Amino acid sequence: MRKRLIAGNWKMNGALAQITSLIDGIANGLLQINGVSAADVELLVLPPSIYIPFVHEKIKNTAIGLGAQNLYLGDVGAFTGEVSGSMLKEVGCQFVLVGHSERRTLFFEDSAMVGLKFKAAVLAGLMPILCVGETRLEREGGQTEAIIHEQLNAVLQIAGIAAFEKAVIAYEPVWAIGTGLTATPEEAEAVHAFIRQFIHQNNVDLARTIRILYGGSMKPDNAALLLAMPNIDGGLIGGASLDAGQFLKICEAASVVN
Ligand code: PGA
Repeated sequence: MRKRLIAGNWKMNGALAQITSLIDGIANGLLQINGVSAADVELLVLPPSIYIPFVHEKIKNTAIGLGAQNLYLGDVGAFTGEVSGSMLKEVGCQFVLVGHSERRTLFFEDSAMVGLKFKAAVLAGLMPILCVGETRLEREGGQTEAIIHEQLNAVLQIAGIAAFEKAVIAYEPVWAIGTGLTATPEEAEAVHAFIRQFIHQNNVDLARTIRILYGGSMKPDNAALLLAMPNIDGGLIGGASLDAGQFLKICEAASVVN
């Protein structure tokens, strides 16, 4: 059985006051709701990197995990403005996003760069959450599987299949991110099954255990149906993760469908 994972990608949101009430809201809410136990659903927040030590301190005695939204591929040196995996690890991160579509488009990260970052994350002892997904035009052009294959294969060629043993994959259709549009459970499931098949071709055992999250306007009202799909093992939540109540409702949905 794969343990469900619900990750909140806060993106570049929140001043200190907002982050304080958000993390307090999640931590306090977790204590109050029945049915979300650390045994069946794993929770994780991904704050802007400058706030990671602050959030780390706040979640010390909770079941909430911590991750970063980005890392650089080098470990130490003259890389002005960048943060390495070992630095993130040192301040308490367990996870890091790699290949989010906003990084690919706004910051020109190609699949080779994503592969190198994925490898750097694993070497630093972090668990990368590798994001893949097609644009609306690519979907309409029938290219979804080809795009996902290219994005996965680039990472496989650079990092090797063994690196995937310490990784999570997130399917995030670009057209669904922050748009309020969601893939139907069937549409998402078809791509998740394709991703699992890709892993299966390279490592049969890993295909059974690797977690594949769905991301793209997952909300309390659509989470249960998406999470009920056999190959959807959790969610990568943007907008709804900035509201403690909504985020916890999604965690509850993940716990119920277990
Ligand atoms: P969204 O973002 O939930 O706001 O669509 C998801 C993501 O970008 O990870």
